[in-house]
Amino acid sequence: MRAADALRAAIARLQAAGVEDAPRDARRLMAHALGIAPDRITLHLPDPLLPEADARFEAALAARTARQPVAQIVGERLFWGRPFRVTRDTLDPRPETECLIEAALAAPFATLLDLGTGTGCIAITLLAERPAARGVATDLSPAALAVAEGNALALGTADRLDCRRSDWFAAVPERFDLILSNPPYIAAHEMAELAPEVREWEPRMALTPEGDGLDAYRAITAGASAHLAPGGRLLLEIGAGQGADVAGLCASAGLTEVRILPDLDGRDRLVAARRPAV
Ligand SMILES: C[S@@+](CC[C@H](N)C(=O)[O-])C[C@H]1O[C@@H](n2cnc3c(N)ncnc32)[C@H](O)[C@@H]1O
Repeated sequence: MRAADALRAAIARLQAAGVEDAPRDARRLMAHALGIAPDRITLHLPDPLLPEADARFEAALAARTARQPVAQIVGERLFWGRPFRVTRDTLDPRPETECLIEAALAAPFATLLDLGTGTGCIAITLLAERPAARGVATDLSPAALAVAEGNALALGTADRLDCRRSDWFAAVPERFDLILSNPPYIAAHEMAELAPEVREWEPRMALTPEGDGLDAYRAITAGASAHLAPGGRLLLEIGAGQGADVAGLCASAGLTEVRILPDLDGRDRLVAARRPAV
């Protein structure tokens, strides 16, 4: 069968399975099966699909019709232009989290702490962008930490990043210029409304702290002042409608310059705060 025919059949199959952007995903999975860059696919469409690539494409399509996320199937996701390994133990890095990177890079820092690091995308990106900086990345999940360590090695930041198992600040005695987190923030009652790709395939502990969705923010804001250098910054990614609550937690914890910042779509996406300089 020609690759073009296999692609057409795959799009119909993914559409029937309820996949939202079936043409995009089918092309990405075919590129994965052929071992080529996604933007090279058109060149290969007139060619026959050889048995090995056909088998890889079939396995990838079976996984996608079961609603496994594309990043888990192909094993990686681009974040801030760099490839991060993604597994079932890690959150698939989201484009909106790049707002956190932009905000972090807007001011200098020499040391950073990334709480709940997952693939390590936040800490590793920032260390790659600031070659003189060092950092600590924590997660409660040993499996996620192993992925973050591998990503740090692959992206040349392992010598400046300490990946450490910790329940938020429990195993972190140091102070930092910058603390960041994209913590689990979905309320328990909202979990049932998530797309199957998220609800059934991403780690529950990466999605929700249970309850009203704010417990991770409570823990992080409560410990922030004791772990920030004077004048140090806290940057938190937030979910829809959580800005006022998280800003309130920052203010109650004695942090100043508390701001709610929007993402590129104009939705509240970050809360930024600072430990007073004196
Ligand atoms: C929303 S994911 C974010 C992952 C990554 N930072 C990103 O932005 O793609 C939240 C992460 O927090 C971790 N986590 C959940 N509870 C935690 C806790 N009590 N202490 C530390 N990390 C925790 C999860 O394992 C998960 O990796």
